[in-house]
Amino acid sequence: MADVNNSIKHVASPLASQTLLDGQLTRPVAGVRPIRLLPWLQVVKIGGRSIMDRGPEGILPIVDELRKLLPEHRLLILTGAGIRARHLYTVGLDLGLPVGSLSPLAASEAGQNGHILASLLAPEGVSYVEHPTIASQLAIHLAAARAVVGSAFPPYHHHEFPNSRLPLHRADAGAFLLADALGAAGLTIVEDVDGVYTTDPNGPEGDKAKLIAETTAAELAKSTGSLPFDRVLLDVMASARHIERVQVVNGRVPGRLTAALRGEHVGSIIHTAASAR
Ligand SMILES: Nc1ncnc2c1ncn2[C@@H]1O[C@H](COP(=O)(O)OP(=O)(O)O)[C@@H](O)[C@H]1O
Ligand SMILES: [Mg+2]
Repeated sequence: MADVNNSIKHVASPLASQTLLDGQLTRPVAGVRPIRLLPWLQVVKIGGRSIMDRGPEGILPIVDELRKLLPEHRLLILTGAGIRARHLYTVGLDLGLPVGSLSPLAASEAGQNGHILASLLAPEGVSYVEHPTIASQLAIHLAAARAVVGSAFPPYHHHEFPNSRLPLHRADAGAFLLADALGAAGLTIVEDVDGVYTTDPNGPEGDKAKLIAETTAAELAKSTGSLPFDRVLLDVMASARHIERVQVVNGRVPGRLTAALRGEHVGSIIHTAASAR
C-alpha cells in the first residue's frame, strides 16, 4: 500500500529537477521534432489590403478559385486586415492607445474579412471559425467541410510586444505560426503583386523592381526595404519547425493560387530554416 502512495506522489519527469532555462539540459527531452497535426492541410492567407479591400472586383475571382480548389485540397483560409485597421491605428495612435489595445482592434477587421469570405463560400459548406475553434476543433470541422475560414491575426492582443507602436505580429506572422504549429502541407500568401520584388513595384522606384523568384528568409532579412508581408515573419521563419517554404502569389491573376497549391513555381518561394533542422 505504501508503495502505491509513493508512485502517486513521485511523478517521474526528466525535466522535474532542473531549470527549463538551460537548453543543454532540456535538449534530450525538448529537442525532439514535433509531430505534424494536420499534414494534409493547405493554409492560404488572403490579403486584406490587396484583395479584400477591393470589394467584388478583388474578392469574387478569388472566391471562385477557392471554390474550384475544394475538391483537390483541404484548406484553412485565413484573412488579413486592410484599410479599416489602418484607420483604427490612426485614431488609436492619436489617442495614445498602447499597442496592446491597437492589436485586437486591427484583429477584428481581419475577422470581419473572414466573415465576408466565409459567407460567400457558405454554399460549399464553408464557415468562419474563431481562434479557440481553430486551436481545438479544426480537425472535426475539416472532417465536415473541405475548408474553414479564420482570422490570420494572432491573438496576441494585450500581450503584443511593446517595442513598436504598431502591432508587429499581424496577419502574415499569425498565418505562419498557425501553419507551422499544425504541421500543415504548405502556406500560400495571396497578394496583388506577382511576388516579392527587390523593391516595392508600386513605389517610386517601381520601374526598377525585379521579381525574386526564389530566396531564403535569411537572405531577405539582410535587406531593409519594404516587403509585401510583416517583417517579423522573417524572424518567425528562422525558427520554423515544419513549414519549409512560403509561396507568395498574385491573387489578381486567376490560376496562380491553384498553380501554387499544385506545387508549381509561380510567384516567389521563400525558404525557411525548417528544412535545415
Ligand atoms: N518588396 C516588395 N515586393 C512586393 N510588393 C511590395 C514590396 N514592398 C511593398 N510592396 C507592396 O505591398 C503591397 C501589398 O500590401 P500589403 O500591406 O502587404 O497588403 P495585404 O494587406 O493585402 O497583405 C503590394 O501591392 C506592393 O505594392
Ligand atoms: Mg501583405
